[in-house]
Amino acid sequence: MERSIHPSGSAWAEAVAAALVQRVADHPALRMCLATGSTPRPAYAAAVAAGAGFGATSILLLDEFGDLPPDEPASCDRVLRTSFVDGARPADYRTIDTGAADLDAERAAIDAWIDAGPGGALDLAVLGLGVNGHLGMNEPGSPVDGRTARVDLAASTIAGAQRYFEGRAAPTWGVTVGLADLLAAREVWVLATGRGKSEIVARATEGPATTDVPASLVQLHPNVTWWLDPAAAERTGWCRRASGPA
Ligand code: PGA
Repeated sequence: MERSIHPSGSAWAEAVAAALVQRVADHPALRMCLATGSTPRPAYAAAVAAGAGFGATSILLLDEFGDLPPDEPASCDRVLRTSFVDGARPADYRTIDTGAADLDAERAAIDAWIDAGPGGALDLAVLGLGVNGHLGMNEPGSPVDGRTARVDLAASTIAGAQRYFEGRAAPTWGVTVGLADLLAAREVWVLATGRGKSEIVARATEGPATTDVPASLVQLHPNVTWWLDPAAAERTGWCRRASGPA
């Protein structure tokens, strides 16, 4: 497990973007699952600004809210499109249609999209981190072997999402790529910035690996990088030791 800590703001965003650009240079047909939320946006913007050749990549949206009206600006799809996909112009962009009449068929189609990749796995999962330790919409207690699923959101997730749904109630459920596929990705990145994430970063990286804190399960993965700013890292042993990657 590696922790890559950079000054908050453009230095953090550019470090993440540079690594992403490098991955795509090494592997132009990279198949990625990408988070939305506010954390990755500056990194996505920096990656697009770098003008990297994302044209052969394939992108899977990590999760999507349920009960969305058409053209909802706060949908995960809209956020990922405007923050990355429209600029990156990948070969394939797979969203999650939570309004599908047959949601089971939609879930199965997402799993099939993942299975169609080399080795049946994603190359890279770029994830945010919920204050309760969720990854995507895999809330505490989610099964480690779970695949794409309809899930009820935790109260803290709904409260956190409310800022995107001004003047209307935030959704209470969504569909997410499951922990099984995120943990099977060849490489996993977890992005976290700000002091508000420091406690959960420390629990996820230094506490026990448990489904109570889904992000702690990445401890079991052989190729994980935590992209942190100093505030998010401040309660970790890495910061206390002020030394290199753990
Ligand atoms: P944030 O959301 O990037 O907006 O903090 C992360 C998450 O809840 O997964």
